[in-house]
Amino acid sequence: MENMNTNHITESVIERLANTPDPRLKEIMLSLVQHLHQFAREVKLTEVEWLKGIEFLTRTGHITNAQRQEFILLSDVLGLSMLTVVMTNEKPAACTQATVLGPFHVDNAPHYALGDDVANGAQGQPCQVQGSIKGVQGEAVAHARIKVWQSDEKGLYDVQYADRKQHQARGKLTADAQGRFHFKSILAMPYPIPHDGPVGQLLEATARHPWRPAHLHFKIDAPGYETLITHVFRKNDPYLATDAVFGVRESLVTDWLEQADGSYQLDFDFVLNPV
Ligand code: BEZ
Ligand code: FE
Repeated sequence: MENMNTNHITESVIERLANTPDPRLKEIMLSLVQHLHQFAREVKLTEVEWLKGIEFLTRTGHITNAQRQEFILLSDVLGLSMLTVVMTNEKPAACTQATVLGPFHVDNAPHYALGDDVANGAQGQPCQVQGSIKGVQGEAVAHARIKVWQSDEKGLYDVQYADRKQHQARGKLTADAQGRFHFKSILAMPYPIPHDGPVGQLLEATARHPWRPAHLHFKIDAPGYETLITHVFRKNDPYLATDAVFGVRESLVTDWLEQADGSYQLDFDFVLNPV
């Protein structure tokens, strides 16, 4: 039996991983073990502290169910989700940048025709949304499929209401032959991410707020182009600089113009990356 010192333990674990058949899994595990051990050495992690960490992860698992994914939320507030989005979605400068999907996307959103009101009864100030979908050469992306979803005036998504009977403030649309789209909705509002669980406790313990700046989610698909998952943020939102999940990119922030009648208009042109 070898005599374990703090560095020897790391080497032993690395040796034990030598026969991992999947080369990518091997690469990830080797790096993970080295960084985890280095982290523990650096902060001189005690047994009591690591037990607290394990209890935190256990609570994170226990609160997770089909509706709530606390581990993704943890990854979001640690910036890890956004880091993987940025690394995986490197595109030419002309392309619209990607950001996090978030937990409020659903597959079975209702279909709408261009010009329809996707609010479908959700409460908020009216907001007209319009724009275009193009490729990097400026070509129209005809009939691109658009999914949009957003919070209402209370900062809640339809799926957060226990008594909701229908989807609201979300829908699927198809752009016209010139790649243009327009629809009616409501003004999206800033909202706190779910913070009544372990992730909320972590935010509180680290003196962080749970708020996201107001945004409209878009998922855009078209044959021959990479799927774009992104948001459009509202200029001057108080939480732009401190988004709880680090999802803001400057190129995604724009003016949502207030009209004389108190309604809003948002214009945004998306540029897709070819596959
Ligand atoms: C969202 O924008 O819907 C979201 C993203 C990450 C965590 C929570 C919410
Ligand atoms: Fe959102």
